[in-house]
Amino acid sequence: MGLIILTIDDKEVKAKEGMTILEAAQSAGIDIPTLCYHEKLKPYTACRICTVEIENKGRTDFDTACSYPVKENLVVRTKSEPVIKIRKHLLELMLAHAPDAEALQNLAKEYGADKNRFEKEPSFCILCGLCVRYCAEVKKKNAVVFVNRGIRREINFIPEIAAKECLNCKECFPLCPTGALQSAFVLTEALAFPPPPSKAVSDE
Ligand code: SF4
Ligand code: FES
Repeated sequence: MGLIILTIDDKEVKAKEGMTILEAAQSAGIDIPTLCYHEKLKPYTACRICTVEIENKGRTDFDTACSYPVKENLVVRTKSEPVIKIRKHLLELMLAHAPDAEALQNLAKEYGADKNRFEKEPSFCILCGLCVRYCAEVKKKNAVVFVNRGIRREINFIPEIAAKECLNCKECFPLCPTGALQSAFVLTEALAFPPPPSKAVSDE
């Protein structure tokens, strides 16, 4: 496999052909934030927080580092002023959906994002798809899926599969950047397997 030389944040970086800019940056110790990336999963480009500035043959563009393949002589800027602005705006939009998510709050501090910039529409999910894709691509179970379209899009556990697979797995829980996955699962489980009426109530 060929070796590719590119520049990331003024540093010469050697990468293997087929790597993404994110992987090349990580191999050189350069930090790029991610919210929907996982090394075992195909790039999904849902959150776009990994957006970087890319100069290629005299043209400058913005694209997602987690999906963009390295090319000879690329010049990548991961912390330029426009990049910071884009990430700040994205965080403000995501914080409207998941205002209490610790991962978003930490990034908001770093990028000066205002969590009250947009009207709150808490869904507690930023649709990063980590849970859905991990369950499908790694576990091959499809116990958690996306349902509905547009603004009604959300995750849903399939009770019949979840009842068999999820209790002993839960590997998707720590992947969730908003931390809301566990409560969603617990709720689904409770709905699928309602506890028997308590004795105190039935005796009344
Ligand atoms: S529940 Fe969490 S992991 Fe799943 S899509 Fe939403 S934010 Fe991502
Ligand atoms: S981490 Fe690259 S788009 Fe989400």
